[in-house]
Amino acid sequence: MRAYEIILKKRNGLSLTREEINYLIEGFVQGAVPDYQVSALAMAIYFRGMTEEEAAYLTEAMVHSGETVSLEAIPGIKVDKHSSGGVGDTTTLVLAPLVASAGVPVAKFSGRGLGHTGGTLDKLESIPGFQTAMSTGEFITAVKNIGVAVAGQTESLVPADKKLYALRDVTATVDSLPLIASSIMSKKLAAGADSLILDVKCGDGAFLKEKDRALELGSMMANIGYKAGRETVAIITAMDQPLGRAVGNALEVKEAILTLRGEGPPDLTELCLVLAGWMLCLAGKVSNSGEGREILRELIASGKALRRLEELIKNQHGNAGVIEDFSLLPQAGNIVGVETAEQGYVARLGAEAIGIAAMALGAGRESKETAIDPAAGITIEKKVGDRVESGDTLVFIHAGRNITGDLLTQIRDRVLAAFEIREDNPGKPPLVLDSIDRKGR
Ligand code: URA
Ligand code: CA
Repeated sequence: MRAYEIILKKRNGLSLTREEINYLIEGFVQGAVPDYQVSALAMAIYFRGMTEEEAAYLTEAMVHSGETVSLEAIPGIKVDKHSSGGVGDTTTLVLAPLVASAGVPVAKFSGRGLGHTGGTLDKLESIPGFQTAMSTGEFITAVKNIGVAVAGQTESLVPADKKLYALRDVTATVDSLPLIASSIMSKKLAAGADSLILDVKCGDGAFLKEKDRALELGSMMANIGYKAGRETVAIITAMDQPLGRAVGNALEVKEAILTLRGEGPPDLTELCLVLAGWMLCLAGKVSNSGEGREILRELIASGKALRRLEELIKNQHGNAGVIEDFSLLPQAGNIVGVETAEQGYVARLGAEAIGIAAMALGAGRESKETAIDPAAGITIEKKVGDRVESGDTLVFIHAGRNITGDLLTQIRDRVLAAFEIREDNPGKPPLVLDSIDRKGR
């Protein structure tokens, strides 16, 4: 087999075989197939696409490029959840303890934030003492003992994705649905869960702006999961405005605690109930996701879900006092209200602009090396469909002491520009736009 022939075949719009895909991925990871040939193949895939079979083969080849995690030592059906990345998406912090409190083991590997989207590990690490670095053995023991663990993914999983993503990043081939689907699914399949719920974000703050593309990605990923013998459900959710009211690490921890107390924002609460409902369903606890809702509401009302978060924090060496006392979380030195001079209804609240403003405050990273400020971020007072009067506060900016003068003014202007206020009431936008079931519809 020659890499040249494989590239040519794809360039001419033909489908690749499992053997051809394996040959390329193995050769790439071992250094036998050079970067320039894999770059050319990525571009050919960008233009020609891949069949469902090819995408499944590519995923499989990537999974086998490194170690995989076995969760077999944990009894029961293990369900994982993945979000394609949003602004203020606080769901994992709520879901992990909530689903665990329903008796379903949650073994969650999470990532860090990059660009204007946040990451669960950064959020959890804003809790003083909280450890996200665990060996696989420690991780499995934690899930066996308390039913839930959230940790950083070990470096040895899916080396092919790290190498391939680095090439895609510099060759304008990130934005290819089969490459995205196999990148995400290879990491999820290697992490060992039996079934998966995927939250594919769609809209202004997501990397997929159009619903058709989000549906296509969700469908492709559900298919890859199905072919790999893991039940996979994808839901498409709106990411036109930030989720909930808090954007920023410690701020989102507080928001998650409020949500587990039953005092969270309606959209975040709703999304958590939908996703957790699916997780109970995939774990075989209930026969449909709606049936799970009542159970989940009761777990929130009784305080059981919140107690499970407390156990999770303690088990990972964090200060669980934060649950009762928010002042134990990092606090910003400077909290500034942003008022509007207009009146009417909020018609738009751009998630991307808010995410970029939060990143500029230090809540997110511009590059992998940037340090974050756990206290920094934005809390939103007015969301789409809310009435505003002139002089009302739209958001509070939570800034560190180093954010002053022109920089603070710039961030303030960016936040104001994210809002569009109109005379007519647009109503509350829908949150769950579509879902794709276990057979890829
Ligand atoms: N997220 C991933 O993990 N991979 C991609 O290719 C795109 C988004
Ligand atoms: Ca939020």
